[in-house]
Amino acid sequence: MLTQAQKDELIRQAIDARKNSYSPYSKYAVGSALLTKTGKIYTGANVENAVLPLTNCAERTAIFKAVTDGEKLFEAIVVVTENAGTPCGSCRQVMAEFNLDMPVIIADTSGKIACEMTVAQLLPGAFTPKDLIP
Ligand code: THU
Repeated sequence: MLTQAQKDELIRQAIDARKNSYSPYSKYAVGSALLTKTGKIYTGANVENAVLPLTNCAERTAIFKAVTDGEKLFEAIVVVTENAGTPCGSCRQVMAEFNLDMPVIIADTSGKIACEMTVAQLLPGAFTPKDLIP
C-alpha cells in the first residue's frame, strides 16, 4: 500500500520529469515516475523522433531506466499529462511484463489524480512471461 506521502512525491517527480519531454511533433508532453520495491524512484519522459514510430513513451522510459539499472520489482507508477491521458497499449504491455498488480496512478499537471487502476485492470487478459515460459 502506498502512503499519501509516497504518492505525492511520485506525482511531484513525474510533473518535473515531464519538463524534459522531447515532443516537438505531437507537442504532448508526458512525465512518469516509477517506485521500485527497493524504494528507488526512476523518472521518464516521452522522447519523439523524426521517424515517428521510434518514439518512446514516458512510462517505458522510466521502466527501461529501472530495468537497465538492475531493478525489476515495481511498487507503483505515476503518469502525468496535461489532460490526465491514460497509458497507451504498448506501455500497458511493458508494465504487464513486470507486475500485473502494480497500481497505475494517472494525474494531470496540477497534480490532481484522475484515476488509479492496476495494470491487470488496464490490460485484462494480458500476455505475460507465464504464457511464454510455463
Ligand atoms: N505517450 C506517452 O509518453 N505515454 C503514453 O502512454 C501515451 C503516449 C506519448 C507518445 C508521444 O510522444 C505522445 O505521447 C503522443 O502520442
